[in-house]
Amino acid sequence: MNNMKSKKILILTGAGISAESGIDTFRAAGGLWENHRVEDVATPEGFAKDPKLVHRFYNLRRSALKTVKPNPAHIALAKLETSLKASGGQLTLVTQNVDDLHERGGAQDVIHMHGILTSMLCGICENRWEHIQDASTEMICPKCYVKGACRPDIVWFGEMPYAMHVIEERLAACDLFVSIGTSGAVYPAAGFVQMANACGKTTLELNLEHSQGSHFFDESRLGPAGTLVPQWVDEILGA
Ligand code: APR
Repeated sequence: MNNMKSKKILILTGAGISAESGIDTFRAAGGLWENHRVEDVATPEGFAKDPKLVHRFYNLRRSALKTVKPNPAHIALAKLETSLKASGGQLTLVTQNVDDLHERGGAQDVIHMHGILTSMLCGICENRWEHIQDASTEMICPKCYVKGACRPDIVWFGEMPYAMHVIEERLAACDLFVSIGTSGAVYPAAGFVQMANACGKTTLELNLEHSQGSHFFDESRLGPAGTLVPQWVDEILGA
């Protein structure tokens, strides 16, 4: 594993990669789901019931983006992307995170399978647009001009994650699947390692502690992403 010359790598990241930047994960003690009921703030039903509460929840998370910055793990993955591209390889960076730290760390092509805080979605015409201020039920869609149907461009529980076809294609074509900073609690992302195994890929997990899927990985390295990820990237690039 250490000196594997990987040309096509698919990386899945979760909240753990942003933890050292100061963004709460979901399932740690005191994490996001400790302080909010998922049903209230992360489901279409919750939004229909109380859109003001849901906008408040995401407005807080969106404005918190201004107070955090990428950490060495985000920056190392951007370096890996650039290097692989230059050598004819490919990095497919898939994140479950809705923060923009991969992009601010320099990554060019990020697949946000659970959406992103800096985008809004019109519930009527499905128009998407960049939006970094607070959102509210008073918002008017810039395309269909309907008021009150704008929602955070976030994939809620019960909704289909974005870009699954691309992800599955890239997973089938990669040499190496790496999971970073995710508990393996939520599907379909949690099933990517089993798909990689079924296609005979090499699999690596970099996580603070054992995840629910650790036993599926060829190798699991435990530690903070800010330390493990730059070390691993140097290994791969040095190989
Ligand atoms: N470095 C590496 N890993 C870390 C760090 C760190 N500094 N800090 C925490 N972790 C690990 C935790 O051990 C845990 O396994 O990151 C993981 C975070 O798990 P969760 O809080 O469950 O977050 P995530 O796996 O991203 O959740 C997946 O669930 O609620 C939904 O849509 C939400 O995208 C989210 C999805």
